[in-house]
Amino acid sequence: MKLLVCGGAGFIGSNFVRLRMRDHGDAVTVLDKLTYAGREENLADVAEHDGFRFVRGGIEDAEAVADAIEGADAIVNFAAETHVDRSIAEPDAFIRTHAMGTFVLLEAARERGLRYVQVSTDEVYGSIEEGSFSEGSPLAPSSPYSASKAGADLLVGSYHHTFGLEALICRGSNNYGPYQYPEKLIPLMVLNALHGDPLPVYGDGMQVRNWIFVEDFARGIGHVLEHGAPGEAYNVGGPDEAANIHVVRRILELTGAAESLIEHVTDRPGHDRRYSLGSEKVRALGWEPQVRFGDGLERTVAWYRDTAWWWEPIRSGDYRAYYERQYGRALGGRLETLD
Ligand SMILES: NC(=O)c1ccc[n+]([C@@H]2O[C@H](COP(=O)([O-])OP(=O)(O)OC[C@H]3O[C@@H](n4cnc5c(N)ncnc54)[C@H](O)[C@@H]3O)[C@@H](O)[C@H]2O)c1
Repeated sequence: MKLLVCGGAGFIGSNFVRLRMRDHGDAVTVLDKLTYAGREENLADVAEHDGFRFVRGGIEDAEAVADAIEGADAIVNFAAETHVDRSIAEPDAFIRTHAMGTFVLLEAARERGLRYVQVSTDEVYGSIEEGSFSEGSPLAPSSPYSASKAGADLLVGSYHHTFGLEALICRGSNNYGPYQYPEKLIPLMVLNALHGDPLPVYGDGMQVRNWIFVEDFARGIGHVLEHGAPGEAYNVGGPDEAANIHVVRRILELTGAAESLIEHVTDRPGHDRRYSLGSEKVRALGWEPQVRFGDGLERTVAWYRDTAWWWEPIRSGDYRAYYERQYGRALGGRLETLD
């Protein structure tokens, strides 16, 4: 298959590109704006392969999309602003990319009759105290991030309903694994633990998330691309749930860092307590997660420990200023537990 992968230089997108080129022999064009979260380094190992092309541009830019879409059989759209904290501080880019960007891609797919997969999130359903959300659950997003993602999902559905576009939606639960930008919980805590920096835990840390290893989600998206029914949404959830504080404690064990590094900080405004996805519909298509959270977390910690070339430029760049604004303290620079 020839794929246009939008946002393919980010965390999940780059894992998806690697998997599709390696296991399925797909040719891939990545269209990516290279925001702070998008990095060509994420694709360094696939960039030399035949069939790979990179186009730098925004999905809201119709000309860039027209260039990148040349020869594609299908579009998979990962492109997004993805950090809830940033959506609270500066929502503009979220609305532009999720609303306008998704619209431009849908129009391009419609003109050319291409199959289209929108990568979405469990956060569009909001928080749930008990049980799990199904695809039929109402959308009740609570942050500018999840609200603009939900808006994009509705637009995608409308293009199927109104124009007959072969459009599908894939809603993932919380991903973790290699190449995730360190503002997100797991890489943030792993890198801070490795450096002996305090581990900032929001509130009581009892926010529960349904964790999925990134390669499982990437396989799930590929599965929906190949086998899903147009017009349908598919939840792709991980096999295990865990509260943030328990994840953090396990990271301390795996890195050998001290429990005293945990620092409880003021909770995020409107912080959802629990996300949980029921994934029976995609399981019925033949997909299931392969990596349990305990194993995936060990693999992830090992990857960050062994891949300093990837995170060193981030930790010594703009991320330092972001971190200081967010947590009111500077990042340290000591690699005390690395040696
Ligand atoms: N990370 C998670 O836990 C998770 C869970 C479920 C769903 N998702 C969804 O998966 C997708 C990918 O998430 P991620 O964690 O890999 O995010 P990420 O922040 O690591 O990557 C996003 C990528 O999109 C690119 N991008 C941003 N705006 C763009 C624009 N206007 N045009 C082109 N490229 C643009 C960035 O440069 C970056 O490469 C998102 O749609 C997100 O909502 C993420």
